[in-house]
Amino acid sequence: MSQVSILGTGSCLPERVVPNSYFESIVETSDEWIVARTGIQERRMVLPGQAMSDLATPAAARALEMAGVAASELDLIVVGTSTADMLSPSCACIVQHNLGAKGAVAFDVNAACPGFIFGLSVAMRFLADGTYGRALVVGGEIVSQRIDYQDRATCVLFGDGAGAVVLGPRENPSQGQILSTHLHSDGDLWELLYVPGGGSRIPPSHEMVDKRLGVVKMQGQEVFKHAVRALSEAALEALEHNGLTSGQVDCFIPHQANLRIMEAVAKRLDIPLDKVMKTVHKYGNTSAATIPVALDEAVREGRVKRGDLVLCNSFGAGFTWGSALFRF
Ligand code: UT7
Repeated sequence: MSQVSILGTGSCLPERVVPNSYFESIVETSDEWIVARTGIQERRMVLPGQAMSDLATPAAARALEMAGVAASELDLIVVGTSTADMLSPSCACIVQHNLGAKGAVAFDVNAACPGFIFGLSVAMRFLADGTYGRALVVGGEIVSQRIDYQDRATCVLFGDGAGAVVLGPRENPSQGQILSTHLHSDGDLWELLYVPGGGSRIPPSHEMVDKRLGVVKMQGQEVFKHAVRALSEAALEALEHNGLTSGQVDCFIPHQANLRIMEAVAKRLDIPLDKVMKTVHKYGNTSAATIPVALDEAVREGRVKRGDLVLCNSFGAGFTWGSALFRF
């Protein structure tokens, strides 16, 4: 198996900023509550008419530019999302069309919030065994269209965005390498976090909309407890697998769902907070986009440099969870 490097990163957030005060005007909540319980101050949301590929394509283009790879050189495009432009075809095929990546194989991975880590894992293996040479992995979500704006317990949490990486074979020692990825699922717990309507169980209908079934349903406290445990275990699994310790991590990029979860996980791992990358305060929970967006910002801000050891983890509906450990 050959070693695989992250050659470039990119991200794209919608321009529309939605502050906590917006929710004060539509549900019984307060900026104080949202900040104290989640750390979120504002989030980005798309405008009507904008779809997942409208964010995924510019994120991908920025990652390709940093990597110095042309779209025509891509062999594989994987998009981690559960909010593709359409039920069919995949968002990845639309991104392929937008980029002009004629020679690539393109498909989506639906693993909710960890969709990027799941997609990275799939793409990495295709590159490691030599099937493909250059891959684009996107994590993106437009959650703002799937939330119940009458449910204060969920509507304040989410935002939209997309992030991307370009992968290629490690060609010289100055390039980093993906050390390992670790994926998990527990379908027994799916009812704690799900979107009931819009699929084949409850197809789109007037009744589905009237009963507010096409939106996120979540038992927040239960999800919180499982998330802290699973995120910590997945991160430790990655470190142990590679014979490394948390003290060697240069940047920890946890799933950006709730600042309290991020801090609890960092504490369990004994990683100081100044090594924890945070975007949740300005973007909220962007589901599959949280990791690649935070990674791209960390790289462009110089917080993650070539050779740095980066640990990522994510947790979401399914339940699904996982981690990735790499030298950038
Ligand atoms: O990305 C997928 C993974 N998702 C997550 O990781 C989310 C995990 N869950 C959480 O982040 C937290 O559970 C929440 C932020 C969703 C909720 O925080 P909490 O500290 O667990 O609050 P709670 O659900 O225990 O609710 C406490 C109180 C309740 O009122 P009562 O019953 O004590 O009177 C809620 O009704 O806070 C109330 N509440 C709110 N109050 C003001 C719930 N949402 C709001 C709100 N504004 N937006």
